[in-house]
Amino acid sequence: MACFFRRIVAQQLVKICGQSENVFIPLISAVPVSKKQSLGDLRVSVNSLVQNGVDLPHDDLQTNTETLAKQIKQNAVVEDIITGRGIIYFRLNKLILAQKLLKQLHSDPERFGLKSELLTHLQSGTTLVEFSSPNVAKKFHAGHLRSTIIGNFISNLKKALGKEVIRVNYLGDWGMQFGLLGAGFEQFGSQEKLKSQALEHLFQVYVQVNREAERDESLRQAAAEFFRRLEQKEPQALLLWKQFMEITVEEYKRIYKRLGVHFDHYTGESFYQSQTQNVLEDLKTKHLLKTTEKGTSVVDLSDAGDMSSYATLARSDGTSLYLTRDIAAALDRKRRFDFDEMIYVTDKSQTVHFQHLFHILTAMGHQWANRCAHVAFGRVQGMSTRRGEVIFLEDVLEEARNRMLDNMRQSSTSKALEDPEETAEKIGISALIIQDFKGPLMSDYKFEWDKVLQAQGDTGVFLQYTHARLCSLLSKYSHEKECSDFSPLMDNRSVCILQHLLRYDEILLQSETDLQPRHLVNFLMTLCHLVASAHRELPVKGSSAQVAQARLCLFSGCRSVLASGMRILGITPVDKM
Ligand code: ARG
Repeated sequence: MACFFRRIVAQQLVKICGQSENVFIPLISAVPVSKKQSLGDLRVSVNSLVQNGVDLPHDDLQTNTETLAKQIKQNAVVEDIITGRGIIYFRLNKLILAQKLLKQLHSDPERFGLKSELLTHLQSGTTLVEFSSPNVAKKFHAGHLRSTIIGNFISNLKKALGKEVIRVNYLGDWGMQFGLLGAGFEQFGSQEKLKSQALEHLFQVYVQVNREAERDESLRQAAAEFFRRLEQKEPQALLLWKQFMEITVEEYKRIYKRLGVHFDHYTGESFYQSQTQNVLEDLKTKHLLKTTEKGTSVVDLSDAGDMSSYATLARSDGTSLYLTRDIAAALDRKRRFDFDEMIYVTDKSQTVHFQHLFHILTAMGHQWANRCAHVAFGRVQGMSTRRGEVIFLEDVLEEARNRMLDNMRQSSTSKALEDPEETAEKIGISALIIQDFKGPLMSDYKFEWDKVLQAQGDTGVFLQYTHARLCSLLSKYSHEKECSDFSPLMDNRSVCILQHLLRYDEILLQSETDLQPRHLVNFLMTLCHLVASAHRELPVKGSSAQVAQARLCLFSGCRSVLASGMRILGITPVDKM
């Protein structure tokens, strides 16, 4: 596949430039398909060769490019060598291109692209991804939704590339708010409602107790008292808190499942509360902790050691903070899972928090902190449902499903579906994901349901539609037999698709490098556009058996790449819609 061709080109380069194939393989890339007839299928920039130690005789880049290109020999696979500005292009034999790509797609559709040598260096080790992490009894806002789908994408991608992945959900389940919640529940809570609509009920109690506490001093005292009982592990208080947690986790598990997301571990801030004393002790022993005039304990983060920048780790009464718990959590995870890298996914308002976290871990002597990363994302404005502002994750899913169902009812083709609700939900979720993944994660965007759920344009609906259409075409014809004659695929349309498929491993590499889903989204959108033209121009119906067979083989290859790309993004492809 892609790598087979890169290897052949690399061998040609070795003959002239010396070095080893492995130096050249990553420098050779597939030329993106554009409307213009492309110069070649693979290319290498001469500057990148020089940067990798190739000695070239001339001072002038273009002269070097021409001289080098002239020395490269054609062979059965590389049919032509062409030069551009500082670039050498390689034109591949299209029959061999079709054969290699489609045969691999046929024999191992799931692993297509993933086995490429471009990716082998990424295949081992353990990645811990912490994402979603909502706060108990509080709103599940758009930021938590983004964290959920982005974290899921990162986990899927790493897993597909061969890493061991540990998915962690770090619930906000500690702090003064639990004093309020506990005291509030003792006054306005109902065990029945807690069982029937846990998340809603806890949220209601929380809102009510906050409101009342503003003017009710005794309630504030009750809250402080409840929190004190919790910290002292008083059984009655702890029992109630545990009940809140268990029910919340169960509910979330059910809803995440609808979204196609799962976690290996649910932990919470509370779990690390008890370990914060050790963290503070450790920092003290390492002479990193200072006490301020106000009595708080801080770590100096400034280069000059003049406290021009610092982080607080304990209040004057000795209680710990969010950051302290995060240090304890990181240390514990390293001990327990011995990860090679850890990735936190939250909105960009927490960027400084994570910088401080990594800084302190490094100062404590934990080298592995440089393999911890924060993937930040921007804000979403205006995500609301017919009920109003988004408070619960489930509301978003309902809204996506219902709106999609309305759209589907208006189209005649979707009447025959066995389970329209489930299909509508899957498509609705794909639409949400694509809308979110189209741009750079750091950008803020304005959310509009109508735009999200459009069938035209680069939407999740379009991806699903293309997948379903391919499934329907393939199911109409039996194409069980492996195709052996690829010569009917030498037309421009088919070749463009093959050239595009050749890039898949590079796209995966790019996605893994910056953890941005948009590369994969763009790749799949282009694939869908190419497939749409192919549907028009490469009919199966009415073609000779030989042509039909080859085209079906091409369509089937497109379908598997589309499906596996969608799955990495966190989208479940539908067969009918
Ligand atoms: N629960 C937090 C919030 O909603 C996010 C937690 C992020 N993860 C972490 N390790 N601090 O803001």
